[in-house]
This record gives sequence, C-alpha cells and structure tokens, in this order.
Amino acid sequence: MSDVAESAAVSASDRLRGARWVVTGAAGQIGVHLRAALHDLGVVLVSTDVVEVPPVGSGAGADADATADADATADAAAAAEQREVVDVADLEALTALFAGCDGVLHLGGISDEADFHDLATVNVVGTYHVLEAARRAGVGRVVFASSNRLTGSYDTETTVDVDMPPRPDGFYGVSKVAGEALCRLYSDKFGLSTIAIRIGSYGDAPEDTRQLHTWLSRADAVRAFVAAMTTDVHVAVFYAVSANRDGWWDLAAGEALGFSPQDDASAVAGAASLPEPDGTAPAAPSGPAGPAGPAGPQGGPYASPEWSLDRMTR
Ligand SMILES: NC(=O)c1ccc[n+]([C@@H]2O[C@H](COP(=O)([O-])OP(=O)(O)OC[C@H]3O[C@@H](n4cnc5c(N)ncnc54)[C@H](O)[C@@H]3O)[C@@H](O)[C@H]2O)c1
Repeated sequence: MSDVAESAAVSASDRLRGARWVVTGAAGQIGVHLRAALHDLGVVLVSTDVVEVPPVGSGAGADADATADADATADAAAAAEQREVVDVADLEALTALFAGCDGVLHLGGISDEADFHDLATVNVVGTYHVLEAARRAGVGRVVFASSNRLTGSYDTETTVDVDMPPRPDGFYGVSKVAGEALCRLYSDKFGLSTIAIRIGSYGDAPEDTRQLHTWLSRADAVRAFVAAMTTDVHVAVFYAVSANRDGWWDLAAGEALGFSPQDDASAVAGAASLPEPDGTAPAAPSGPAGPAGPAGPQGGPYASPEWSLDRMTR
C-alpha cells in the first residue's frame, strides 16, 4: 500500500472506531464477512436480517481451523454485537432499531433475478423503508448495496461510468435503479447522506471468464465499504470492483471518495483457465468473454431473456 493509501486507511479506521452501524442482510454472503472486518476496525455493529444472524466472526465467515483463542475472540465480538431478526417490510421495527446509530449499510434483499413483484416488495419498498427509517431515526448516512447489473445491458466494449443512463440487464437491475433513485431523493430532499455502491462479482476468486472483468475481492469490498462509510462526500454512486486488468467500469467516482482497489482477477491463480459463464449464456459466440464477433452485453447470461422469463412466477 502506498503511504498516501496507508494514511487514508488509518484515518478511515480512526473515524470508524466506536461508530454504531446497522448492517441489513447481515446473514448474507457479504454481510457475514464484512461484519467481521468492521468489527476488527472497532465498529459497533447492529446486525439484522429476515433470518437469524450468526454472531460476528462465526458461521460461514469463520475459518475452519479456528483456534481456541480465535473462538474466545469471536465470543467477545459476539457479545458486543446487537443481532435482531427484522424484515425490511417492517418500517416501525427498522425505525426503532436505527435509533442512536451513525449509519446503515443496507445489504438486505433479493440478490439476483426474481419475479418482479417480489423484487418490488423487498428491494424497492424495502429500500424505501430503510431510508425512511434512517430519516425518522436521525441516522447520518445510508450506504446502499447497488449492483453492476444496473448497467448490464451495455456491451462489453463500452467503458461505463456512473453518469451514464442505467441499462439494467433484468428486473433485479431495475430494482437497484429504483434503490439508487430513492437514495438520491433522500439526499436531495431530506439531507440524508447516501452512498450507493455498484458491487461487481463478490467472492474469494473469479469463478468464470465474465468475472475477469467484474470480480470484487473480499479485501477490496471492505475497502469500498470503508470508503463509503467515511467519506465527507454527501451523496455519491461508485463501482466497487477490484483493479481488474480487463475491467469494464470507470473507477474515478470511487477514487474520488477514497476507494483504491488492490486486487486483480487476472493475477489470481487459475485465471487463465476459467470456464465460460454457465450454460444459460446466449447461444451467440459473442458472449461477454467470447473470442470473436460483436460485443455482447456485460451481463452475459443474466442479460438473456430466459434469465428473467424463467424466474417469473405470476
Ligand atoms: N454478492 C455479489 O456479488 C453482489 C453483487 C452486486 C450486488 N450485491 C448486493 O449486495 C447485497 C448483499 O449481497 P449478498 O451476496 O450478501 O446477498 P445474499 O443473498 O447472500 O444476502 C442477502 C441477505 O438479505 C436478506 N434478506 C432477504 N430478504 C430480506 C428481507 N425481506 N428483510 C431483511 N433481510 C432480507 C437475506 O436473508 C440474506 O441474508 C444485496 O443487496 C445484493 O443485491 C451483491
């Protein structure tokens, strides 16, 4: 890490120590790992989900070979964390939960394509509830887990930045467009600070050729969320993606508020022999990482009609 990045990281963690932050979707893939990192930075966690939340530092996020010392540390961490089962449908419960908190990381919801009625209820109305509860409770900032799928219909030869119009690759992406619009409304109209993070493909390592462009490492995800939690900027949108050699998205908006990704999908072991995205990919040989032909959508298989049609239930 450069000296500048290191001192920025130090001051960010200074600002976070002792701050009280709610995490919605705390039992999910990102929530479990992010909470452990935030706890290590001294954040006081209020962790909530529609399902039971495993204590910070335990469950899916814990190393299989954890020692007794690590268990004791996890026990202490768990004792310092408030965990509550709350559905984002419940505005009153969210408002009560947010009282006295400095910020909310809103990760909870449906995290892939689904029937639009469900997406509208959980992701759109649910995000409205989170923002409105934050306003009522006097919380300073909401960080919204948006998605790259909000622009997944741009083709793979286009570098997308946050000022370009949304082109969602499905109804899930539409729900994130609405979420970002709600964030902007709450900032412009009610003075609530909102930072929307368009998350790439979060995970330990890139899993297919599309993720050579979209991968977000766990460590870079923590950097993105810490930047969003600590920036002085009032309202912003940025892509949270690792510093992938073949990235599709302009990183300037994130850099402007202190997000400096360090990892690169192309440098991960096995990157040269990753499989194509799964069998639901469009038949055209022009898939996102296809070797020839016109560029396909960045969403790859997610942008195919079937990905949405197969998930409609009503
Ligand atoms: N993982 C990624 O690569 C990725 C990429 C882009 C965006 N995102 C976004 O980041 C957020 C977290 O992603 P994730 O991978 O951890 O998803 P996840 O599906 O693992 O976790 C989502 C959590 O939300 C909870 N949830 C669902 N409905 C709820 C409700 N009605 N009330 C309260 N909680 C509810 C679920 O129980 C789950 O624990 C999501 O908003 C997702 O859309 C993730």
